[in-house]
Amino acid sequence: MSITPVKVAVTGAAGNIGYSLLFRIASGALLGPDTPVELRLLEITPALKAVEGVVMELEDSAFPTLAGVEIGDDPNVIFDGANVALLVGARPRTKGMERGDLLEANGAIFTGQGKALNDHAADDIRITVTGNPANTNALIARSNAPDIPAERFSALTRLDHNRALAQLARKAGVHVTELKKLTIWGNHSATQYPDIFHAEVAGKNTADFTGDTDWLENDFIPTVQKRGAAIIEARGASSAASAAAATIDHTRDWLRGSADGDWLSMAVVSDGSYGVPEGLISSFPVTTKDGNWEIVQGLDINDFSRARIDASTAELAEERDAVQALNLLG
Ligand code: NAD
Ligand code: LMR
Repeated sequence: MSITPVKVAVTGAAGNIGYSLLFRIASGALLGPDTPVELRLLEITPALKAVEGVVMELEDSAFPTLAGVEIGDDPNVIFDGANVALLVGARPRTKGMERGDLLEANGAIFTGQGKALNDHAADDIRITVTGNPANTNALIARSNAPDIPAERFSALTRLDHNRALAQLARKAGVHVTELKKLTIWGNHSATQYPDIFHAEVAGKNTADFTGDTDWLENDFIPTVQKRGAAIIEARGASSAASAAAATIDHTRDWLRGSADGDWLSMAVVSDGSYGVPEGLISSFPVTTKDGNWEIVQGLDINDFSRARIDASTAELAEERDAVQALNLLG
């Protein structure tokens, strides 16, 4: 391959998500089969030995698209020249923990990484934050990276979007590929709002399903909101392979574009659309093209949806205030 490899930095490379994510990126699932990729893997020092083992396995996979791997514990080195950064490395919550408990533990990671991205990443950098609390970690990184345009930072709500697709497809008795225009609004937390009022099921509107308020309020919405906790309860560890798959879906579609006639859910910086306070990193319906995103405009928001969007964005504002008080915002 003669084209210059795309440099993809991944943090938390020795972790559970990393173990699934790296092999998919190396095999071309993120950038396609014709684009060589250089992986740049960041871990904390005690985990570097484990990363060496992962690198041996990457080598042993003989992926045609893998052009090289760098590992290290210094974000200033690992983010050097990065075109894409997937910020996964953070402590996951364990049984009984709420996401808010992670704010302090994980927030500090994202000040240093934001600064390092600011100083060393390539001009075309695109950043996806998966590590929790993802929206607020993205806000921290963004506010510590004043030279990187705000719209280059995003946080993952694609896993929630995919979970909502699966639940709605099951209810409707169709395959997930027959669903369109579903939205996750707000925070990647139990306040998120999966909205099916604009969705299309096999080309029809969702009146049958939105009219079933018992299912909507007592089944669909809480199932999607609490799916992360249900997986922790069942597995004894937080979702990993599905989180890796969603991290790929999110970043691939951002770089390569959303499908015509459909939209995605991404947490991106608010411009005040739909009453979401400006500057919060909140999930919206977006379309993407060539590494840029646009919030879908002009959707009617009914009272049912309004209350839920407001509740989740109020939580995001509280998280912002909490990390501001901890001096984590640049
Ligand atoms: P894990 O504990 O298995 O791995 C995390 C890794 O991050 C560890 O290897 C750790 O050493 C590393 N790490 C910690 N601090 C670091 C730093 N400063 N720099 C680089 N690496 C660092 O956890 P996991 O299961 O892979 O989950 C990772 C994160 O993703 C957690 O915060 C989890 O809650 C989150 N998550 C998010 C979603 C989502 O949809 N947004 C879904 C699932 C999990
Ligand atoms: C998930 O949604 O699976 C993760 O964010 C884990 C969690 O803490 O809920």
